Amino acid sequence: MRTYLVTGGAGFIGSNYIHYMFEKYGDDIRIINVDKLTYAGNLENLKSVEGRDNYTFIRADICDEAAINKIFEENEIDRVVHFAAESHVDRSITDPNVFVRTNVMGTASMLAAARKAWEKPDGSYPEGVKFLHVSTDEVYGSLPDDPDAYFYETTPYQPHSPYSASKAGSDMLVKAYMDTYHFPANITNCSNNYGPYQFPEKLIPLMIHNALAGEKLPVYGDGKNVRDWLYVGDHVRGIDMVQEKGRLGETYNIGGHNERQNIQIVKTIISTLREMLPEDDPRREHVTEDLITYVEDRKGHDRRYAIAPDKIRAEIGWEPTVFFEEGIKKTIQWFFENEEWMKNVTSGDYEKYYEKMYGDRL
Ligand code: NAD
Ligand code: TYD
Repeated sequence: MRTYLVTGGAGFIGSNYIHYMFEKYGDDIRIINVDKLTYAGNLENLKSVEGRDNYTFIRADICDEAAINKIFEENEIDRVVHFAAESHVDRSITDPNVFVRTNVMGTASMLAAARKAWEKPDGSYPEGVKFLHVSTDEVYGSLPDDPDAYFYETTPYQPHSPYSASKAGSDMLVKAYMDTYHFPANITNCSNNYGPYQFPEKLIPLMIHNALAGEKLPVYGDGKNVRDWLYVGDHVRGIDMVQEKGRLGETYNIGGHNERQNIQIVKTIISTLREMLPEDDPRREHVTEDLITYVEDRKGHDRRYAIAPDKIRAEIGWEPTVFFEEGIKKTIQWFFENEEWMKNVTSGDYEKYYEKMYGDRL
C-alpha cells in the first residue's frame, strides 16, 4: 500500500486534498498528515477521516528536522505532498520572518529528510518515490493589464511580497535538489483558490462572512486588482494528476482562465448570497452593495495574476471542471451548512487579527 506524507493537511487546500484522496483511493493508500496546527490549521476540517485505519495525524513543525526524520524512519514513505506554509500576504507584510522560517527553512528540512530517507549510496532513488512541492503563481510577480500577458512555467521569478519571496525561495531549493541530487520532485504553481474550509482572512470567505454578519466589506485600493480564481477541488485533482502523470523534475502551472477584478468578485458574492438566502431570511435586509467600503491599499499590491495552464493541459490532460458561477454557489452553500465551523474559526485569535488588520482602515 502506498504511503503519503502530507504536510499542512489541516489547512485549507491540504484538508481538501486529503478528502479528495480518500474519496478517490479509499483503503488503497495510507496518509500521514503532519501539521503544526498554527492559527490556520484546524483538525475540524478532517473530522470525517479521523476514524480511518489508514489515516494518521502527527502534530509537528516542519522546521523540526529531527521530528521529520523520525517520521521517515518509522514509516515507509512513498510520496510527499508538501502544503505546509504560512500563506497570507497581509500577515507576511506585518511579520515577514515567520514566512522565511516556515516556507524556506521548513521546505529545506522536508527536502533534507526526504533525501536522507530515500537516496541510495549510488545516488539513485527507489522506484516510485516522489516529492511534490505545492507553490503559487505569486512567485512570478505582477502582470500588466494586458489580456494577452500570462504566467508560463518559463516566466522569470519576480516576487514582491515577503510571502511570495519566501515561496520563491522554497521553489528554488526544490529546483536545486532536483539539479544537484537528481531528487525526484515536481513543483506546481497554482493561482488563487477558493472553496470549503478556507480561512476567512482570504478575500472570498472574508466577504461571505462579513456580508452575512452585516459588516463592512473592505476592498483594497481601487478594487481593480485581478486574481485568477480556481475552485479548490480542481487544484487538488491537478496535484494528484501531476504526481501520477507528470514528468519528474518539471514544474506545472495550474489555473483555470478565470480572471476577475476584486470588486467583481465582491459584487458577485453579494448577488449570489441574495439569490441563495431564503425569502424570509432577515439577513437579506443587510446583504447589499452598501456594505462595500474602499480602504487603504495593501503595500506593494500586485496588480494582476493570470496563469496559462497550457503545459498541464497538453502533457497531463488536466482541465478545470468547476466554473466560477457554480464554484461560488457551492462555496456559499458550504458556508451556509457549516455556520458552526465559521463561528469557531472567527472567535478568539481571529478577532484580534481582524482588529489589528482593519481596525484603523474601516
Ligand atoms: P493554509 O494557511 O490554509 O494552511 C497551511 C497549513 O500549514 C495549516 O494547517 C498550518 O497549521 C500548517 N503549517 C503552517 N506552518 C507550519 C509548520 N511550520 N509546520 C507544520 N505545519 C505548518 O494554506 P493553504 O491556503 O491551504 O495553502 C497550502 C499551500 O498551497 C501553501 O504552500 C500555499 O503557498 C499554496 N498555495 C495556496 C493558494 C491559495 O489560494 N490558498 C494558491 C496557490 C498555492
Ligand atoms: P487574498 O485572498 O489575500 O489572496 P492573494 O493576496 O494571495 O492574492 O487577496 C485576493 C485579492 O483581494 C488581493 O488583490 C487583495 C484583495 N483583498 C481585498 O481587497 N480585501 C480584503 O479584505 C482581502 C483579504 C483581500
